[in-house]
Amino acid sequence: GLAAAGCGALAAEAAGEGLRSALPLPRPFTVPLPVPATARPVRPGHYEVVQRAAEVEIIPGTTTEVWGYDGTFPGPTFDLRRGERTVIRVRNELPVPTSTHLHGGVTPPDSDGYPTDLVVAAGRGFRPPAGGHSSHHDLTRWTFHSGAKDYVYPLDQRAATLWYHDHRMDFTAPQVWRGLAGFLLVRDDEDDALPLPKGERDLPLMICDRAFEEDGSFRYPAVDGTLLLRAGVEDACMEGVEGDVILVNGAPWPVLEVDAARYRLRLLNASGARRYRLALTPGGRFVQVGSDLGLLAAPVAHDTITMAPAERFDVVVDFSAHPVGTEVTLVNTLGTGPARDVMRFRVTRRARDDSRVPQRLGDVEPLDRSAAVATRVFDFRRTGQGGGGSWTINGRPYRPGVPLARPRLGTTEVWRFTSDFHHPVHVHLGRFQVLSRNGRPPAPTDAGWKDTVDVRPYEVVDVLVRFEGYRGRYMIHCHILEHEDMAMMADFDVV
Ligand code: C2O
Ligand code: CU
Ligand code: CU
Repeated sequence: GLAAAGCGALAAEAAGEGLRSALPLPRPFTVPLPVPATARPVRPGHYEVVQRAAEVEIIPGTTTEVWGYDGTFPGPTFDLRRGERTVIRVRNELPVPTSTHLHGGVTPPDSDGYPTDLVVAAGRGFRPPAGGHSSHHDLTRWTFHSGAKDYVYPLDQRAATLWYHDHRMDFTAPQVWRGLAGFLLVRDDEDDALPLPKGERDLPLMICDRAFEEDGSFRYPAVDGTLLLRAGVEDACMEGVEGDVILVNGAPWPVLEVDAARYRLRLLNASGARRYRLALTPGGRFVQVGSDLGLLAAPVAHDTITMAPAERFDVVVDFSAHPVGTEVTLVNTLGTGPARDVMRFRVTRRARDDSRVPQRLGDVEPLDRSAAVATRVFDFRRTGQGGGGSWTINGRPYRPGVPLARPRLGTTEVWRFTSDFHHPVHVHLGRFQVLSRNGRPPAPTDAGWKDTVDVRPYEVVDVLVRFEGYRGRYMIHCHILEHEDMAMMADFDVV
């Protein structure tokens, strides 16, 4: 199981560059970049995936027990098309309940991974936990499926890099830390028709941090897989847990041999809490073509990209700008120590490249403030101190079944996010465009349709959210997973 180290003992290291691993770490850029397997349907439109424990080699020469979809971390990549209704049967063979959420999905509410809508391994009973940070004493709200649940994804949405991950009430952070996350790519004709890099030059990159115990198991400030919520949480854990090992597609600081050509990199920050400021050394730019929810209207060039948890940046990097033999390193300039490196690209050969980045990409209807039928404020703030503290929205810890808002289907609203800390705010179902930060224009990295926005300390961020697809119960929450588990979440009902 996860090592039983208390937050107190780990507070000092967690306050620095994150939890420190207790085993010798590999030299960076020696492990080849893995590409997650592509899921195969059992019959057209139907997939099955099993959540199970498996021993995998993450740190060369040692094994780590992961909890993964099909026993892999990341889980398999679902490569799907817009409008093709897909059913994924998720079978749980883990010792804990799970709930699977498709992040960025326009999904009916009963398939959205509601935190109390659980799948429990066959033959295991389920007892709702007592206590916890959320006020979920109203036990009538729990539902559970024995063995498996069919999640239905109509995918009536534009091409985008989505991802799926665990969403269990109070336990999302430790369960994702152990490996429950993977990609789901939605493709469509609009995106396919563009001359962007394709095939092996179109790569999803899941970036996340972890720490390891001496025996190779994941290190996390938890007892029995539970973040120490009740035993008195130190500040270091309150802020969110970071590790000192950066994984890309599950491998520590990997290396990839590339052609001297353009590559489309679908960057996902799947970390629980860590933010990255990505840059290329010795040089190079990221030409952003897509955001969380698909193509931008026009490309945006960045020297650095700051990426909060759950954000996606779809970028094109041109390795032909470097002579063959160059090593191009993706670094994280916010990181210290080993967390400063992410991965390396080794430019190994000249190659034909017919790709380019057109000046016009996707159709992005610019939203206007005057389109909004309502304005709502969501204040992301800590209440209380130390062990009594919690993270709240509008002063309230999460209460399942008590919606904070009731937007109408088909309308657009201004949602204003205020905060006391870094909170990557994520809205289920609704897609949004960033309108302003502190009354000023949004950042270049805010472009396009988003589902997660990096709200920085004491910032006021206005977004225009459009509610389309389904009526029903959805969630808004902070995507620092420890904050989500510490109740920084709320329901809203689309009516
Ligand atoms: Cu990716 Cu409700 O989360
Ligand atoms: Cu989501
Ligand atoms: Cu937060």
